[in-house]
Amino acid sequence: MNELDALVESARAGFAQAGTPADLENAKARYLGKAGRITELMKGLGALPVDEKKSRGAAINLAKQAIETALAERRQALADAEMLVQLRAEALDVTLPGRQRGQGGLHPVSLTLERIEAIFGSMGFEVAEGPEIESDWFNFTALNTPEDHPARSMHDTFYVEGGSEKAPNLLRTHTSPMQIRHAVQHVKRHRAALDAGRSMPEIRVIAPGRTYRVDSDATHSPMFHQCEGLWIGENVSFKDLKFVFTDFCRTFFESDDLVLRFRPSFFPFTEPSAEIDIQFQHGPLAGRWLEVAGSGQVHPNVVRNMGLDPERHIGFAFGMGPDRLTMLRYGVNDLRLFFDGDIRFLAQFR
Ligand code: PHE
Repeated sequence: MNELDALVESARAGFAQAGTPADLENAKARYLGKAGRITELMKGLGALPVDEKKSRGAAINLAKQAIETALAERRQALADAEMLVQLRAEALDVTLPGRQRGQGGLHPVSLTLERIEAIFGSMGFEVAEGPEIESDWFNFTALNTPEDHPARSMHDTFYVEGGSEKAPNLLRTHTSPMQIRHAVQHVKRHRAALDAGRSMPEIRVIAPGRTYRVDSDATHSPMFHQCEGLWIGENVSFKDLKFVFTDFCRTFFESDDLVLRFRPSFFPFTEPSAEIDIQFQHGPLAGRWLEVAGSGQVHPNVVRNMGLDPERHIGFAFGMGPDRLTMLRYGVNDLRLFFDGDIRFLAQFR
């Protein structure tokens, strides 16, 4: 191997040893730098005779080119290696599941309320909402509930501080105050027609919402839901209640052979009154009587408090428990699950 080939070889070896770009630049200086070996050889040319100078110069140039090529290759190799290290460090695992946007859903009781509204809506009932902080008048007195009725005792009712005789001072214990509130508005709108001896459009309304009682166990929550129903007209009877509520329950539970039982009961604001029980003919609850609502023909005193003449206007009311309907529909046995806010439970109803 001649001297120039040996020089190229040693440059290659030197470059190969350089593990970093900085090492490589140092190695380069030893061959191509101002005081490098190639530069030195070029300087030596001056001392040679002309004919030798030419061939020697060409040979040195070839060696220089070879070294430059080796340098460029090594630079590229180091850059590639560096890139590889970086790629590894910043690697993405594209097989990991993506971060999804959480999908929300309606609360099971909200689903039930929507269902109730849709079914009664199809039967011509409008939906009304009212205040959860009520006055004694709407919650009790107007509903024919005498002063000494047990429902008024501190035991059942959450009283709010302050409050005078007419000021709102309790958390409504049922949605029945909406019977009065809605009917009074309705009657006000049609007062002129009524006074002139004409008829008003029938009152047909449901009023879903939150209600409150001092009570707490697996089937009672201090906050729970009710849905009131009211139908008042000149010729509305108990058979209409039976028809409407039977139709509702069969549609709600998607069960055409569901059986209903109207069991005599007492409410101050209805007379006669009935608890409504249902009985499934199939499934895990088949054969058992399950109470789902209170109901009855609206008491004449209540009709009067609506601003109507009980000799002319008559109808029925019912109050059902959407929480209980939800439990029955989905087979949930602890009411508290609905209000604990545990997303694992709630997500099952999406
Ligand atoms: N308000 C009654 C309750 O809370 C239910 C009911 C409503 C009964 C309407 C009759 C008529 O239990």
